[in-house]
Amino acid sequence: MSRSKIVVFTGAGVSAESGLRTFRDMGGLWREYALEEVASPEGWRRRPDVVLSFYNERRRAVLDAKPNAAHLAIAALEAKFDVQIVTQNVDDLHERAGSTQILHVHGEILKARSTVNPRLVYPLSKPTIDLGDHCELGSQLRPHIVWFGESVQHLDVAAALFAAADKVLVIGTSLSVYPAAGLVHHAGDHAEKVLVAPEVDTLPPGYRFRCGTAVSVVPELVAEWFAKT
Ligand code: APR
Repeated sequence: MSRSKIVVFTGAGVSAESGLRTFRDMGGLWREYALEEVASPEGWRRRPDVVLSFYNERRRAVLDAKPNAAHLAIAALEAKFDVQIVTQNVDDLHERAGSTQILHVHGEILKARSTVNPRLVYPLSKPTIDLGDHCELGSQLRPHIVWFGESVQHLDVAAALFAAADKVLVIGTSLSVYPAAGLVHHAGDHAEKVLVAPEVDTLPPGYRFRCGTAVSVVPELVAEWFAKT
């Protein structure tokens, strides 16, 4: 019998208990930084040095962080389920927790890319990207991050994965940035749909709300799913 398909859709909240900042909560990044300045092509054109230092600081925090119990529980699901992670996060905590099928729709902070050819992507050999770091074509390297106004990656594949899922688990996202947030509506009527967060403004239709933090809820939910197999 084929294994049940689970899509896990994560946002910054799943990494909050690993010490990484969210964007719109108290203490969130967009309460301290103007996103137009540090996460947009215009900001890059105006002050690439400011953009590079914003991501260099976030990258150092990622390198210091560790996967938390929610990341580990999600990875453990692969023992019994066909699991596909679709994440808005740019950290590598799902990878380090042991998950193997991960789509990053907003990019990856541990990679750099050419400013002239977005298909030229490079794993970083040092913790920072600095002015003067060039790609093989001789152009300045930039963070491999999808900035506001740029097209999201893997959206069609992600939508198809949601539509085929038997279970959809949404963790730690305010669902405020489209088109990624719209993915939750691609889940089928038949699928079990759960959203985990300490609070929620509007629950997507058909989703059950499990109130709490990722670390307090996800391991328990995963145990429930294992018990039913
Ligand atoms: N456990 C679970 N959820 C949490 C926790 C936690 N410990 N702490 C906060 N949350 C929830 C918040 O309630 C909120 O719903 O995580 C969500 C964080 O929302 P945002 O800060 O908006 O982060 P996210 O939804 O990932 O942002 C989406 O916006 O700026 C862009 O590209 C950026 O990918 C990001 C996108």
